Amino acid sequence: MFEGMTDIHSHVLWGLDDGAGHFDESVELCFMAEDNGTQNLFLTPHLMYWDRAEELYDLREQKTEELQEILFDNDCEITLRKGFEILCDDDIFNVKYFNPYTLNDSGYLLLEFDFFKTNESDVVSWCKYISSFGLVPIIAHPERYRFVLNDISAVQRLSEQGALFQINAGSPAGHFGEASEEIACDMLNRGYVDFIGSDAHDLFSRNTDLRECMEFYPSFLNEELIYKAAVENPMFIIEDLKYKPVRIDDLK
Ligand SMILES: [Fe+2]
Repeated sequence: MFEGMTDIHSHVLWGLDDGAGHFDESVELCFMAEDNGTQNLFLTPHLMYWDRAEELYDLREQKTEELQEILFDNDCEITLRKGFEILCDDDIFNVKYFNPYTLNDSGYLLLEFDFFKTNESDVVSWCKYISSFGLVPIIAHPERYRFVLNDISAVQRLSEQGALFQINAGSPAGHFGEASEEIACDMLNRGYVDFIGSDAHDLFSRNTDLRECMEFYPSFLNEELIYKAAVENPMFIIEDLKYKPVRIDDLK
């Protein structure tokens, strides 16, 4: 079990998306994270509509401050970090300024896509567009998209284009089905998992307890690489430093 983990993906802020429904749930999710080894918790509400982005940004600022204050008053020492999980489609080409939507005001953006309709060439073009602003795309839960489930080598090609990858903590434990488990495990042992995130939505099925997920990881997983993804690599985002992934073996 690791201490000092960073969870780069969560829907812990209440009332902004399909995540936590009320303030008390957000508070409990933060305590749960802290109790189970998480030091930094990224709050990444879904950003799905660009015409609502500014409004969402303001609400996120307000709610993060309110939450951090109550945690501080109650001796919860977790550090909240701000971000969004950006749902990409071709509308992204109309966006000319991404800086307010990065992770912790860094050069990294967390991206998600439609699970079924998206294909590899869409993702390549969205990632290229984002990279043209000097930003680094981080693909949330690649192990869950149909185009990856059909062909894991898509991950390798996206990596060659400069994309980074965040798997869900529950995936290697089988929470998203056998196929996603297999892909997450393959990615991990071959050096394609840059980050791990809870993608927590509530206190029950997908929560902020990374430790519990890790207890169910298959024993063949490389523990050092899990440590890097959960503890070391996220520091490059927090400190806004250049991160260079080390891929170990091809994904086929
Ligand atoms: Fe998410």
